[in-house]
Amino acid sequence: MIVKTVKWTEAMSVGVAALDDDHKKIIALLNKTIAALYAGVADKAMIGILDELDAYTQGHFQREEAYLEERGYPGLGPHRDQHANLMAHLGRMRGADRGGELMEMLNIWLIDHILRHDMEYRRYLESGETAASTGTGGETCRPS
Ligand SMILES: [Fe+2]
Repeated sequence: MIVKTVKWTEAMSVGVAALDDDHKKIIALLNKTIAALYAGVADKAMIGILDELDAYTQGHFQREEAYLEERGYPGLGPHRDQHANLMAHLGRMRGADRGGELMEMLNIWLIDHILRHDMEYRRYLESGETAASTGTGGETCRPS
């Protein structure tokens, strides 16, 4: 099996520094998971690593959804569904069949999610049509 580690690049930027930082951390945790899989770490250690990835990803999705809700993002419903699907996928990683194929799928899924689905909200945020776009101005947008 060949599973490449992932690198965050500017092409993945969603235009919101705090959310980019979250994505970088998720990618770091994903790489840690891939490395652990290659190293053949004991099951207990692997579960610990998956727990960390799972908890951080869950927290990120909550932050991202709260931010998009505040901004009135019209695509939020389907975006939430994408997140729920990814969490279910992460949950299945706890099963006995976690292997290279599954890791590769997860890898592609995350990158696909950031590069395609998160980019859709970036375009929305940059369009200036957001619910919070009237008034204050400035780019102080951090998820609360
Ligand atoms: Fe997302």
